[in-house]
Amino acid sequence: MSFIELKDVSKSYGPRNVLSGVNLTLDEGEFVSIVGASASGKTTLLKAAAGLIPYDKGSITMAGEAVTDFSTKASYIFQNYSLLPWLSAFENVNLAVEAAFPDWPKPMQKEQSEKYLQMVGLGAALLKKPSQLSGGMRQRVSIARAFATEPRVMFLDEPFGALDALTRATLQQELTTLCRSVGRPVTALMITNNVDEAILLSDRILALSRGPGATLSPAVSVNLPRPRGADLLMHDDQAIRVRNHLAEFLLAGSDRERPAQRPEAPAASKDVPVEASI
Ligand SMILES: Nc1ncnc2c1ncn2[C@@H]1O[C@H](COP(=O)(O)OP(=O)(O)OP(=O)(O)O)[C@@H](O)[C@H]1O
Ligand SMILES: [Mg+2]
Repeated sequence: MSFIELKDVSKSYGPRNVLSGVNLTLDEGEFVSIVGASASGKTTLLKAAAGLIPYDKGSITMAGEAVTDFSTKASYIFQNYSLLPWLSAFENVNLAVEAAFPDWPKPMQKEQSEKYLQMVGLGAALLKKPSQLSGGMRQRVSIARAFATEPRVMFLDEPFGALDALTRATLQQELTTLCRSVGRPVTALMITNNVDEAILLSDRILALSRGPGATLSPAVSVNLPRPRGADLLMHDDQAIRVRNHLAEFLLAGSDRERPAQRPEAPAASKDVPVEASI
C-alpha cells in the first residue's frame, strides 16, 4: 500500500474547475515532484493532498487513513515564506517545535530549534527578525522549521521559486542532505515550475496539465545517483530524456485533444520508463 494516495481527486472553486480526476501515489521515503505552468492548479493540488483545503470528489489517504485535516505527521513549506514577522528566526522555529512536542521540557525544545537552524547555516542569525534576513535566509528558516518538527511527510510549494539561481542551487543541495541525514524516512511532495529542480531532487516526477480541469501526466522515474549536480543536468542522457519528456507533456497541455489521464488507471501503475517513451 502506498503511503500517500490520491484517487480521482477533483476540485473546483465555484464554477472554476481546477483539478479533474487527479491520481497520485507516494511510497514512504519517496521524493516526488509535480511540475506545471503558472495557475494550473499546483498549489490547489498540494493543499488538498495535505488536508489544508477540502476537495469535491475522489479520495486522499495517508498511511491508509482518509486525509480530513492537516496531519501532525506533516510539515508544509508555503510558496511565500510565511514566517511570523514579529518573531525572530529562533522563535519562528521554536513555536513549531513547541506545538509538535508540547511535552518536551523547554531546554530540549530550544536545543531542537537551535540544532535545525544550525543545520541550515543560521547559527549566527537566531535572533534576527525575518525583515533582517535575505530571501535565501528566510527560506532556510522555513526549511529548519519544517524539519525541526520531525515530520514523516513534507509538502513543499515552490520552496525556492523566489530565489536567485546560486542560492537556489545551494538550498536544493541542503534539502537533499537534510532529507537523507535525519535518520528516518521523509516522504516529500514538492511543487515546482522548474523541471531541472525536479530532476535534481526527485525519485519520480509528474507534470500537471494546464487547467481548467488539470490532470497529472504519467510519472517519470529519475534513477540517477545522488548528490546530483548541474553538470549532470547538462550532460546526462537520462536527465535530458526526462526533461524532454516532461516538456513535451507540458507543451501539449494546452492542446485539449491530448488524452487526459484516465481516472480508472492509478498513476503508479502507469509509470513511464523514460527510455521506452522517447
Ligand atoms: N481560494 C481560491 N478561490 C478561487 N479561485 C482560486 C483560489 N485559489 C486558487 N484559485 C484559482 O485556481 C487556479 C489554480 O490556482 P493555484 O494557486 O492552485 O495555481 P498554481 O499552479 O499554484 O499557480 P502558481 O504557479 O501561480 O503558484 C487559478 O486560476 C487561481 O486563480
Ligand atoms: Mg502555486
